[in-house]
Amino acid sequence: MSKTTLSHLMLMKHHKQKMACLTAYDASFAYQVSQAGTDIILVGDSLGMVIQGLETTVPVTLEQMVYHTKAVARGIAKTEHQAFLMADLPFMTYATPEQCYQSSAQLMQAGAQMVKLEGGHWLIPTIKGLTERGISVCGHLGLTPQSVDILGGYKVQGRDNESAKQILHDAKALVEAGVKMLVLECVPTPLAKQVADSVAIPVIGIGAGPDTDAQVLVLTDMLGITPGFKAKFVKDFMVDANNIPEALAAFVKAVKSGEFPAAEHCFS
Ligand code: KIV
Repeated sequence: MSKTTLSHLMLMKHHKQKMACLTAYDASFAYQVSQAGTDIILVGDSLGMVIQGLETTVPVTLEQMVYHTKAVARGIAKTEHQAFLMADLPFMTYATPEQCYQSSAQLMQAGAQMVKLEGGHWLIPTIKGLTERGISVCGHLGLTPQSVDILGGYKVQGRDNESAKQILHDAKALVEAGVKMLVLECVPTPLAKQVADSVAIPVIGIGAGPDTDAQVLVLTDMLGITPGFKAKFVKDFMVDANNIPEALAAFVKAVKSGEFPAAEHCFS
């Protein structure tokens, strides 16, 4: 048994090997996802929508994230190839650096190897503080679902010159502050490529085209079971699979070979 570490993922970026990432929320699915060879598992606050049936991720609490992170960590621990475990800091649990340290400590003690937070330059002091205290951080730019009301809905970000420049600027600033990974959600392919090419850390895309270092999808989306939801960037891997482990393995293979995402899943 071997645990995937941040150093493994950094090496994969260095060697231009694509990384596969999926969300998971419980031990049984985490076991299957890790066993399929997924490099990174995210306990996403998307659990508010796909597990709890909420409209947004905003009501998700830290207590719920801790509960699910513990379950996922137990599932991963039973696998041979143990995926890297990252957990989302939910809405308003990182509004100040001090609050963020307390919230992150709970996720790390639940088994996370890294915490993820959404936002740009306002997070710089927080990211510096977490890094100094030994906590690895993943940033999240582009469509940031916790700010869905300010963004005016679930829309592609960085379409005009000014907002694209802002995302690129924020990405570099977050890396300088200490983030070790970055999620880019729903941005045009050329912008995602520019970001991934300008930073030395793994950039994970969702609806960000084929040029990021890793691809992530929400588990229930790629299994085609999220009620009433089919975004352009999602592929249902169950369509050509006989069972869930086959669909998970097909996702990992498609990401690593560069087959997914195809042009139809991308924003130009
Ligand atoms: O919460 C989540 O699942 C996420 C992914 C969509 C990246 O943040």
